[in-house]
Amino acid sequence: MSLVQTTLAMILSVNGIGQQAPDAMGAANPPTQVRISYGEDPTRMMRVVWQTKTPTKSLVVKYGTTDKLEQMAVGNRPTYVYETGALAEATLYNLKPNTTYFYRCGSDQGGWSDVQSFRTADPNPSSFVFTAFGDHGVSADAVSNVKNVLFEKPAFHLLLGDISYANGNQPIWDTYLAQIEPMTRSIPYMLAYGNHENEDITVDGKKLDIGYIATMTRFAMPGFEQSYEFDYGNARFVTFNSDDYENPVQQMWLDRTLAEARRNKKVKWLIVFEHHPLYGTSKGRGDNEGLIKAISPILDRYKVDLVLAGHDHHYERQYPMRNQQITSTHMSKYKKGDGTLYMIQGGGGRSLYDFTDPKPAKCAVREKTNGYVRITVPKKGSLKIEAKRVDRSLIEVIEIAD
Ligand SMILES: [Fe+2]
Repeated sequence: MSLVQTTLAMILSVNGIGQQAPDAMGAANPPTQVRISYGEDPTRMMRVVWQTKTPTKSLVVKYGTTDKLEQMAVGNRPTYVYETGALAEATLYNLKPNTTYFYRCGSDQGGWSDVQSFRTADPNPSSFVFTAFGDHGVSADAVSNVKNVLFEKPAFHLLLGDISYANGNQPIWDTYLAQIEPMTRSIPYMLAYGNHENEDITVDGKKLDIGYIATMTRFAMPGFEQSYEFDYGNARFVTFNSDDYENPVQQMWLDRTLAEARRNKKVKWLIVFEHHPLYGTSKGRGDNEGLIKAISPILDRYKVDLVLAGHDHHYERQYPMRNQQITSTHMSKYKKGDGTLYMIQGGGGRSLYDFTDPKPAKCAVREKTNGYVRITVPKKGSLKIEAKRVDRSLIEVIEIAD
C-alpha cells in the first residue's frame, strides 16, 4: 500500500469505516506490542499500552496479585493521524507497593494478551538495580540488548532517547515495539526524548513536521512525558527533553525539580537521564557547548550525582565535573558530592561513531562498542555502575561512595 493509501485506511479505521463490526472479529485482533511504564508514583501506579490491528469495542486490563486477575482497569484510545493500528492505554491505580501483579490486556471481542507480570516499586529497598542505554533502533545488537536487560532483571529500564529510528516511516514503530516487547511487557520502560523522536513524514512528496506526536501517543510517561521525575527507593530520576533544552519553561521546571529533590530528605541519589550529552569526544561532535552553558549550572547547583545520556553511538564517560572542571582523576572510585559523573551509553543498537584523537583530558574511559549500563543503588554504601558491552563483558566498574 502507498503511504497515502495506508493513511486513508488508517483514517477509515479510526472512524470504524470499512471494518468488520468488532463482535465479528473474534480473537483475530489480539493485543500486540504490550508495554508497561510507571505512573507518577511507581509504588502504586502502572500504565499499560498495547495496539490492536483495528479498534475494539472495549479496552481493558484485568489484573491482580494472583492469576485470578480479579481487578479491572478500563483504558482509553490515544490516536494520531499517522497511527498504524489502534492504540490502547490504561492506568492501574492504588496498587500495593513492592508486590508482583499479574495482568492481561485486550477485550472479549478482540482477544487477550498472554498473562504477564510486573512488580511495583519497593519504597524502601536494601538495594535495587536499573539498566540504561540509548539510541536503540532495530538491529541484531538492539535485540541482544533487549536480552541483556532481561538477563539483568532490573527494576526498570531507562531508554536514553532515539528510540525506534522510524524517522517518519510509522510502520518501523511497529517493528521496534514488537522487538522490545519481551522486555517491556514485564519491565517498566522509562523514556528520555531524543532528536529522532521529532519526526518528519512525507505525504504526497511533501515533508511534514509531525513533531513528537508518535512518541507521545505510543508511550505513556509520567507528568509532562517529555520532562518528568519518578522515585525508586532513595533515588530520584529526572529527565528533560534535551532536544528542546533552550526552552526557558523547561529550564525553570528542571531547576525547580532538582531544588525540590535536594530539599527532600528521602532523596539521596539524584540521577538525571536525557538524550544529548553535555560533554563528549565523538569525532565531529565533541562537547555540546549550548547544552553546557544552559544546563550545567543547574546540574552543578543541585550537585546531581549522575547524568546518563546517549546520542553519541558508543560508550564514554568523563571524570567527575563541577563548574566545567574535573574534580578527581581517580579511575574508578569517587566521593558523592565531589562532582557530577557524566556518562554516555549511546550504543543501544545502532552503528557506532568514532572518537576524536587524541583523547581529551576530561574523558576517563571510552570504547567504540554497543552495550548497556547496569547500576546498583544501595540503601547504604556506594552507588555501583557497571558498564558492559553487548556480549555482557565488562568495560569498567565505577563506585561513588556515599
Ligand atoms: Fe540523537
